[in-house]
Amino acid sequence: MEDVSDFSARKLMERDIMKKIILDLDTGIDDTLALSYILGSEDAELIGITGTYGNVLLETGIRNDLNLLEMYGRPDIPVFKGVPHPSDADSFEVPDSSGIFHGRNGTGNVEVPATATRQASDKSAVDFIIESARKYSKEELVYVPTGPSTNIDAAFVKAPDIVDKLTIVMMGGALTQPGNCNPYMEANISMDPKASNRMFSTSADITMIGLDVTMQALMTKKDTQALRDVGTKAGAFLADMTDYYIDISEETDPAFQGGCNLHDPLAAAVALDPTLVTTFPIDLMVETEGPSIGRTIGDPTRLLSQPKNTKVALGVDAERFTSQFMERLLKLAATVD
Ligand code: BDR
Ligand code: CA
Repeated sequence: MEDVSDFSARKLMERDIMKKIILDLDTGIDDTLALSYILGSEDAELIGITGTYGNVLLETGIRNDLNLLEMYGRPDIPVFKGVPHPSDADSFEVPDSSGIFHGRNGTGNVEVPATATRQASDKSAVDFIIESARKYSKEELVYVPTGPSTNIDAAFVKAPDIVDKLTIVMMGGALTQPGNCNPYMEANISMDPKASNRMFSTSADITMIGLDVTMQALMTKKDTQALRDVGTKAGAFLADMTDYYIDISEETDPAFQGGCNLHDPLAAAVALDPTLVTTFPIDLMVETEGPSIGRTIGDPTRLLSQPKNTKVALGVDAERFTSQFMERLLKLAATVD
């Protein structure tokens, strides 16, 4: 039998390693994979999903989140509605390219094999982010946006006191690579460059997981077959959805031969284990006008300021990441039908 002091030590250790996560998703195929990764990780407690627009309309993403949580048997996890459009607009339409990459429903035109009867919370995503940042320490809480920066920007504007109270690990941007919308612009930053620029201009502790590293992490058809072989509805759904993403990636760009990029799952993984990447400290800005609008680049007005508040991931242990990604997804897919 376990000794009382061993038990308390183990509990203390668990508290130390268990991270509270908020996923801010525009669900989306790789957003779905990021959610699955977090749910399959024993060292993560998903305290809520804040929905955003991007790959799909806000309402579609929220419905996907609720159905996915239902499929995974986690109707206890709350889902909050975020701002439905960019900070400088009053409406949003899904760009054609997003519809092509993620399917019209966000999950590769494959239906989630569960339907939630519940709705999103009455509380707004912005208020949930603010409350959580005030409630937990920066060491405990990691906010992981895998879409535009609109919700966190709105939270910082509403409650500037929270800026230094949470850790942000975001998917978006590119520092040493061309963008994926055009040579300058990555898709998440393209949605609301002004909001991303305001976020980078604060003192918030941000790790940027951009195309520099996410394009080195691939999921292949061998991986999707392994998910299908698990024999559950969840496994088949993940496999069919991701095959859509692999096919469309390969059709669009010969650079993708062999698989699809694990953009959002890598950000989720780094939120739990920062040692998966090596980072470069820099104060970033986003260009908000001109021909290179959307570019994430060093802010020339802060070259002398210290400390640098953003860590840009430039190196990744892709093999360690992809193998633990598959291990966690296979285990999760096997535990539900
Ligand atoms: C990012 O854009 C979206 O299409 C993906 O979900 C990911 O968050 C990659 O540039
Ligand atoms: Ca996304």
